Amino acid sequence: MSATELRVEQRANLRDHNTFGLPALAQTLVRIGSDADVRRVVDHPEYGRAPKFILGGGSNVVLTRDLQAVVIKVEVMGRRLVDARDDAWIVEAGAGESWHDLVAWTLEQGWPGLENLALIPGSVGAAPVQNIGAYGVELKDRFESLDAVDLVTGRSVTIDAATCHFGYRDSIFKQALAGKSLITRVRLRLPRPWQPVLGYLDLERKMAETGNAHPDARTIHDWVCAIRRAKLPDPAAIGNAGSFFKNPVVSPEQCRDIIGRDPEIVHYPMPDGSVKLAAGWLIDACGWKGKSVGRAGVYERQALVLVNRGGASGAEVVTLARAIQESVYGRFGIRLEPEPVIV
Ligand code: EPU
Repeated sequence: MSATELRVEQRANLRDHNTFGLPALAQTLVRIGSDADVRRVVDHPEYGRAPKFILGGGSNVVLTRDLQAVVIKVEVMGRRLVDARDDAWIVEAGAGESWHDLVAWTLEQGWPGLENLALIPGSVGAAPVQNIGAYGVELKDRFESLDAVDLVTGRSVTIDAATCHFGYRDSIFKQALAGKSLITRVRLRLPRPWQPVLGYLDLERKMAETGNAHPDARTIHDWVCAIRRAKLPDPAAIGNAGSFFKNPVVSPEQCRDIIGRDPEIVHYPMPDGSVKLAAGWLIDACGWKGKSVGRAGVYERQALVLVNRGGASGAEVVTLARAIQESVYGRFGIRLEPEPVIV
């Protein structure tokens, strides 16, 4: 097939393609609906050699400038049950599907397991890139394998969990394979029998409030949606990219030192002996909640979320983020690391 069949837009405005609602132009935006489309880009006389930037749901990116790289908007669709094994349902979805719609659909079909990950913005293809996680479950806990196309050779490959190098909001796709490999389909493993994950404080609170100690998957889904709606701004109404910083992990000594000075600090011991601190608490403690720098602000109900108060630029968001990093470093000696990709 000829390269002219690619769906290409020149000087495309990306404002509607990122949940922060930040303005930026893509010199070239190519929409990809299949592995074959990706190969058409790879074989293209001009786009083939150009640097590439892969855009999923645009929910984890801060655009600070126009993009010269060829921006690839992933629109591979489709959802299906691949296998009903005794120990798990294996479900496959195209990278362009909405993550939350997939979660809702699997529950409707009677395949529970993704309920703790309800309402996370973004696409299915972006989920493994940053190993999305919430309320005690991470994508890696439900991951089977994924299909990707190599952006240099055009070859399709299937990649397993070990190769993905999943970490806390991290994977090989944010590191060595960034811009080099395009995820087209993701397969999830939903274990049978289903086991609820209820250890997270907010969910324990729901159990106590409702007197329901044995919620089913649908109930957990509804609780997670309610908790998220109460704390996190809906990107359709207020531009944002979810948590802006990762929760920092410190040594027990460092933590003891900080607790000595700030006994209230919210912290969670990790299996390896290190301690995870709540970045939202640190930012809140520095007085940032509800504050603004230009048209970028800190969300009133969750200090970990930066928001676009209307017409903000990526530069304003980054200026605010730097100011927050400096004040948290000044008071606690901790360097906060941004979670979204800053471009
Ligand atoms: N806190 C404050 N002030 C604030 C915000 C938080 O004191 O302004 C305290 C809270 O009271 C709580 C603690 O900090 O005791 C942690 O807050 P929360 O439970 O809301 O979770 P989080 O650490 O802010 C993380 C993830 C979220 C995920 C939730 C639930 C990161 C960076 N964020 O948030 O993920 O939904 O846990 O599991 O790990 C995302 O990655 O975009 C995201 C939203």
